[in-house]
Amino acid sequence: MEKISQKVCVINHPVIKHNLSVLRDENTDGEKFRCALKRISYAVFLEATKNLPTEKKQIQTPICPCECEVIKEDLNLIIAPILRAGVMFCEVAQEMMPQAHVHHLGMYRDERTLQPVWYYNKTSKVPKDPENTYVFVLDPMLATGNSGVDGVGNFVKKGIPQKNITFVCLLAAPCGIEKLTSTYPDINVITCSIDKELNAKGYIVPGLGDAGDRIFNT
Ligand code: URA
Repeated sequence: MEKISQKVCVINHPVIKHNLSVLRDENTDGEKFRCALKRISYAVFLEATKNLPTEKKQIQTPICPCECEVIKEDLNLIIAPILRAGVMFCEVAQEMMPQAHVHHLGMYRDERTLQPVWYYNKTSKVPKDPENTYVFVLDPMLATGNSGVDGVGNFVKKGIPQKNITFVCLLAAPCGIEKLTSTYPDINVITCSIDKELNAKGYIVPGLGDAGDRIFNT
């Protein structure tokens, strides 16, 4: 793992690098793409959840009593996939945090302005206990950072501390990281690579193309 700053982490692992190469390859078909993304997702969510608060729990093993540690039971965990590509991360995130609530954020990118256009927001409730709420905003591609800022902003506006919000992506462009972390300096960002740049159409270079199209065979 490479810490770009206290808050931005690039996971540096051979299994991730290998599967990232599969994802980047234009000859990888939809099925292989989804498998590689799933393999990477486990590593990404282990990293993304590593600072969740835990508490002691007394249990009985078949051998003897044992003091264990579990994720704090009163936490409000929110998984927030940005539609549509973020959905692919969601399955593994739910496997790893079965107690979490899933709040879908529906936005597409206006091809001309590169600004997000919202069409669905399933996050209406203000949490009872914002300090105990932890949010994982999921989008494989952090490109311009515009939808990332909107997605994270949606939770910051509800009073959830930035330090409790983690933006989880696969690839990031330097300008996307800059936009997101300058707007919300206290959030956490987890990525598997910071690529070179964006092209004129707002695609990450070298990137992997349109993540949604590749996941959903469109
Ligand atoms: N969204 C994608 O799917 N790919 C990019 O390169 C940028 C945004």
